[in-house]
This record gives sequence, C-alpha cells and structure tokens, in this order.
Amino acid sequence: MSHSFVPSPNVASIQESATIAVSQRAKALRAAGRSIIDLGAGEPDFDTPPFILEATKAALDAGATRYTAIEGILPLREAIAADATRRRAGRGELPVTAGEVVVSTGSKQSLQNATYALFGPGDDVLVPVPSWVSYFEMVGLSRARAVGVPGDPKRDLKVTPDLLRAAATPATKGLMLNSPSNPTGAVYDAAELQAILEVAAERRWWVISDEIYGRITYSGTAAPSVLDLASSRDQLVVVNGVAKAYAMTGFRIGWTIAPRALSQAMTALQSHTTSNASTPAQYAALAALTRTAEADAALAVMVTEFRARRDMALDILREGVPALELVQPQGAFYLFFKAPGGDGTRFANQLLEHEGVAIVPGAAFGTPEWVRVSYAAARPDVEQAMRAIVRQWSA
Ligand SMILES: Cc1ncc(COP(=O)(O)O)c(C=O)c1O
Repeated sequence: MSHSFVPSPNVASIQESATIAVSQRAKALRAAGRSIIDLGAGEPDFDTPPFILEATKAALDAGATRYTAIEGILPLREAIAADATRRRAGRGELPVTAGEVVVSTGSKQSLQNATYALFGPGDDVLVPVPSWVSYFEMVGLSRARAVGVPGDPKRDLKVTPDLLRAAATPATKGLMLNSPSNPTGAVYDAAELQAILEVAAERRWWVISDEIYGRITYSGTAAPSVLDLASSRDQLVVVNGVAKAYAMTGFRIGWTIAPRALSQAMTALQSHTTSNASTPAQYAALAALTRTAEADAALAVMVTEFRARRDMALDILREGVPALELVQPQGAFYLFFKAPGGDGTRFANQLLEHEGVAIVPGAAFGTPEWVRVSYAAARPDVEQAMRAIVRQWSA
C-alpha cells in the first residue's frame, strides 16, 4: 500500500461535512444491528411528487440524454428568471433575464461557483454563526477568510446590522445569508432583512443569499427573499434549488440569479468542472417550477406534516425540559437548542450510544454548546426521539 499522499494546500485543512459524518455513524450502527432513529438528516423524508417523476421519464423518452448549454436549458432558466421578475415587480427596473441564471449540480455547486468567482486571497467574507456546515469550507476553498459573526441569542441567533458592522473590516467583501436558517430554523423577517441589505449596500458588500428553505415556512407565506427587498440587484446573488421544497435532493439541481458578468464567470468556471447539470434532472426541475398547482399541493402536504411534527416535538421538549434554551423554528425542518451542560458533542454522543438517536452536534455549525435535531423523519420516530432526549437530559 502506498503512503505517499500528502494533501495539497488546497484541501489540507478541509473537513468532511459533519452532518454527513453523523448520518454515516448512524448507518454503521444500524448495519451492526442496532435500531437507530436518524434525526441527523438534512433532507425531506417525502417522496418526490409523482408528476415530477413522470415528467422526468417523459423527458428521457424524448431524448433528454445529451449535454445541454453549460448554464442550463433555456426554458428552466426562463422560468427561474420569470419568477424573480415577478418578485421585483413595481421597481421600474429591467426584468431579470435567463442570462442572469446559471443552473448547477445542486445549490451546493451554485454556492461554490459564487464564492469561488467572487472572493479570493485578501478578502474577508462575513458568515453568520451558527452557519450551515459548508459556507466556511467554500469560502476557504476560494482562499478568502470566512469571518464568523455570532448571532444574538436574544434574537433566535440571528445577526443584526450592528453585529455585522462590528465584525467588518476594510477587507470585507461579502456576506453569506441563509433564511430560513439551517441549522436553527429561524427566519429573518422583512424588516430585519431590509436593515441588513442596507448595511451591505452602504459598504458595497456582495450578498449571497441561500434561500433553499424559502418555501418551507410555518407562517403561511414564503420567507422574505432578498429579491423582494434589495434596492438593487447589482451585488446580489440569490441561490435556490429544488432539493428541499420539492423533495428532490437526489436530482441535484440548484441555481444562482446574479448579475450578467458574474453569471458569465460562473458559467466559465462550471464549463471546466462539471459542465451542465444532469440533463434529465433539469427537465424534472422544469416540471417542478412550471406545474405550480401540482407542486404547491405537494408542498402544502409536506409543510403541514412538518408543522405537526415541529409542534409535537416542541411540546414534548418544553414539558420535559422547562428551562430549555431553544430557537423558535419558523421554517426549514430543524430544532436547535442548547445541550445540557453546554456540551453539544457530549450530548449527541450520549444520545446515540444510549438511546440510538442520531442528532448533529452544534460544533458542526460553529456553536459547540448547541445541537440540531432534524424532524424530517416519521412522526412516531420524532416522538420517540424527543422522549429519549428528555430522558437523557438529566441522565
Ligand atoms: C442551507 C443549505 N444550503 C444548501 C444546501 C445544499 O442543497 P443542494 O442539495 O441543492 O445542493 C443545503 C443542504 O443541506 C442546505 O442546508
């Protein structure tokens, strides 16, 4: 066996995604015969709506098996641009065009394209903490510096203009936003988002807004988008995809809406990495975005079930642990709370070993005192897991 591999500086400090690591540990225990409830997952436990599967099969039968344009098929980019134009209505600006949309292999690639094309050595990028696992690594891969900005515990761990200003330096070039948030489920309301966009505009920061959970909310309306609020699109990158709202994680389709010059740079980058996103999956996404009545009905079923699980989980936790410090989740499908003794890693390990329940230690998101529980699992499993959490709390 050869032992000659020395990681290049490009990857020397990269960490495997911690959320995936927990799922793998849970799978290994299950393979060893233990009964495990996995609340570590970041994907809806629903099946992709059948109309999307049918559209995918029809596209394959019609020959959707070849390369497409690097930036994606035109009708899909047009559908994305048309929706963005609707959100910008009434501002008297030019419509969003398909030329401002790049379709990629999951919104993960969209985020990577954007960070890589925008940031480089010498740049600082503000990342609100807790943060989804990959932002720090993506900014690091672009050789810029990710600067964590701890959110305010009194405001569901959200950042404010003052916190951002205090963390900024003359090297600050951009800001990562994610609402609804993974891992907290918190949602920035329109006023909060607007205030942040104003600071970004005043400082000329690029804003990359990851809105992948935008339609999974419990208020009855979609979460506010930077598209609804920003005074200009000049330094805005909106990232979205089909994974969560349409239960299409495996299709791997995401996109950016960004100014034309940046979109061209991201297309050039993608032309040397993955080329176009999978062709049949692009047609699947087209069906999801254009057959809105069917898509909305499927989404409503999913969100109704998520809400019921969230409410049940909160009831059990609040009753069993009255002093629980917890973010009030308004979107996505996560619960985020402070672990007993302020040690999220110890609590997650204890829960997995003693109760067979997998959750994600908050260290994965830059907040080691906390833990994340995903309720994208069958309701009886969520219930059983919450009771296990209460039992272990005082164990
Ligand atoms: C906040 C956030 N952004 C992006 C992604 C990546 O989604 P995709 O499957 O579209 O790559 C995830 C997936 O877990 C996520 O939680």
